[in-house]
Amino acid sequence: MICDNLGINEKGHLTFAGRDTVELAEKYGTPAYIMDEEKIREKCRIYKKAMAEYFGGESFPLFASKSLCFKQIYRIMKEEGMGIDVVSPGELYTAASAGFPLENAYFHGNNKTGNDIAYAMDNSIGYFVCDNCDELYAIDRHAKKRGIKQKILLRLTPGIDPHTHAKISTGKVDSKFGTAIETGQADELVKLALSLENIELRGYHCHIGSQIFEYKPFSDAAKIMIDFIAKVKNEQGYEAHTLNIGGGMGVRYVESDPEIDYATNIKSLSEIIKAECAANDVNMPQILMEPGRSIVADAGMTLYTVGAKKEIPGFKNYVSIDGGMPDNPRYALYQSEYTVCVANRMNEKADYECTIAGRCCESGDLIQEGVKIPEPQRDDVLAVLTTGAYNYAMSSNYNAIAKPPVIMLTKDGEYVAVKRESFEDMTACQM
Ligand code: LLP
Repeated sequence: MICDNLGINEKGHLTFAGRDTVELAEKYGTPAYIMDEEKIREKCRIYKKAMAEYFGGESFPLFASKSLCFKQIYRIMKEEGMGIDVVSPGELYTAASAGFPLENAYFHGNNKTGNDIAYAMDNSIGYFVCDNCDELYAIDRHAKKRGIKQKILLRLTPGIDPHTHAKISTGKVDSKFGTAIETGQADELVKLALSLENIELRGYHCHIGSQIFEYKPFSDAAKIMIDFIAKVKNEQGYEAHTLNIGGGMGVRYVESDPEIDYATNIKSLSEIIKAECAANDVNMPQILMEPGRSIVADAGMTLYTVGAKKEIPGFKNYVSIDGGMPDNPRYALYQSEYTVCVANRMNEKADYECTIAGRCCESGDLIQEGVKIPEPQRDDVLAVLTTGAYNYAMSSNYNAIAKPPVIMLTKDGEYVAVKRESFEDMTACQM
């Protein structure tokens, strides 16, 4: 099994966090997102402990809440002492309404509108991660109006190709995110930030991409950032207090993906950062990281019910399910790999090759192609594993399909974290 929270019970059913997924499907209906709260907490603790131990006590992780955003997640993050990264006033609102302390929130985005900036400041957000020169002036203006000095990090692009899917690669010079180091524009941005009266520059941020297994792109980026800290120190006399190295560590979607030991990665990264700081004669900065996927992905799975089966001789077999791209658009967008199981036939031979099709009127509405599973029958429960990140968060109402609930499994029970959307909920804004 690809994660230690998965198993098979005496009935031959798939278990998740020790629970029978077939029973959960019966109880809550399908499609449904099922989440393992303990796994989420375990991951938070791994990051927190390793970062404090290897980077120093001031360093800590921020949960990238774009990967999973609903009130209960922010409550869990608050309880675990995590910071958060938010990318919109909507995420900020959700966090605030769950009681998350916004002084530990970092506001991202390559195009924060005037309203976004005002909303974040009025809610006393801790930090802006400022993307560009234009935004810097806007933050300064809004801060001045409120008589505050706004803490910021500058988002810089280190010019790294992390060798991941192009659509989730962000650290190259040609990117809509951040300001490039290579072109000299980053130096200018720092100069400007230091000159503005209502800005308190705390340091820099970079994020090179997502679902990265190799360790080298992170250490390459970190080195470039430390070198930049040193350059600015020498040329402008400003030494950054904080370096946020973003998120992006990969997770195991299929057996062939490597297992990642996050703590060991953090340790190795810390050694490179410390050596680079020493070589450049700069102090070790406070290090922040922004894991999203690696905190929640394998803490989630989606349960569906099998419907129609279609066998096209000489071509392929389609197995249709009662969900699809509205609850998981990742195959349609990135051809993302997933492990698919027939949850009530776990001990049967996986020799039926098929494509898992969603229920939308759209040929690209597929969840996975060419998977081998035991031949499913109508009403079987199909489980798609590792859907905790970027599934609920990316879900839509395409074809007026209502969103599934999120059921949170705990040590001693379970609860509904997000209820199933009703047709009334779905049409609530429509006049
Ligand atoms: N920090 C920043 C500034 C980011 O842009 C992201 C992800 C993260 C942190 C978190 O990265 P993670 O640890 O989750 O890899 N929808 C795509 C992923 C887009 C990622 C966007 N940024 C997907 O489903 O694969």
